[in-house]
Amino acid sequence: MKTILYLTDLYFEANGRNYYEEDLFITSKLREHFNILIGNPQQAIAFLNKADLIVFRNTGAVIGYQEYFDGFVKAVQKQNINIFNSFDGKADIKGKQYLLDLMNTEYPVIPTVEHIKEIDTLGDSKKYIVKIKNGADSIGMEILTKEEILKAKPEGKLIQPFLDFEYEVSFYYLDDKFQYALYAPQKEKRWDLQEYDATPEDLDFAKQFIQWNNIKTGITRVDACRMKDGSLLLVELEDLNPFLSIELLSEEKRNSFMDNWVAVLKKLT
Ligand SMILES: Nc1ncnc2c1ncn2[C@@H]1O[C@H](COP(=O)(O)OP(=O)(O)O)[C@@H](O)[C@H]1O
Ligand SMILES: [Mg+2]
Repeated sequence: MKTILYLTDLYFEANGRNYYEEDLFITSKLREHFNILIGNPQQAIAFLNKADLIVFRNTGAVIGYQEYFDGFVKAVQKQNINIFNSFDGKADIKGKQYLLDLMNTEYPVIPTVEHIKEIDTLGDSKKYIVKIKNGADSIGMEILTKEEILKAKPEGKLIQPFLDFEYEVSFYYLDDKFQYALYAPQKEKRWDLQEYDATPEDLDFAKQFIQWNNIKTGITRVDACRMKDGSLLLVELEDLNPFLSIELLSEEKRNSFMDNWVAVLKKLT
């Protein structure tokens, strides 16, 4: 049996989600196929060479240990370590800069600017949302009026109109293959998710971001919001450590996802 070093922060407190429960389930399945070592992402550098493959999972917002994480990424790249997700994404793994990149190339993303002087290009909005450029898990997110933003002069942040969307929906991909979709029917309950039947149009929407990012291997979550006119806009492209909400799937979907994942991991080892 090959060995996997499974990196996760079992005690990370995430709004509305129990990371460790997902990890208990996943590792219980993976151990049927691999020897499993479980490690903390903030102690991983010492163990880089202890496994055939590293699986980077529910490791929390890396902004909490940015320096260590940057060192980890460097070491992985330098030593050519076998890792899943591969660290070659252009999206969330690098912070939220990709929203600006995608905006500038006219992908359907929530309108986003970096500088106050560009705020008028976002159109008139009662409220705006200001996000830290390398934040996650809603850390440092503020909802402000234009006047408040002009006063606060945010730096290193992104500004978006605060949108009155209908609901949020997430599309989960394994490499470039769609696996399942979940949505939050109640807006204020972001993590009360239910299974969602993705239409071919939805998948065309999601796939363009997977193709743009073009990572070697990994699980990517495409988070989108459904606007009142029926269109979708990208909220987030999570290509580092997307929470999978795996316990919310039907047993059949969950098992088929796990089978697909095991097959990918086996190919990598
Ligand atoms: N422009 C926006 N308008 C309205 N709500 C938003 C907007 N951007 C984000 N949100 C809400 O905030 C949540 C977190 O935002 P997101 O961009 O995913 O940041 P994080 O990296 O913190 O997850 C989203 O899931 C959504 O509910
Ligand atoms: Mg998010």
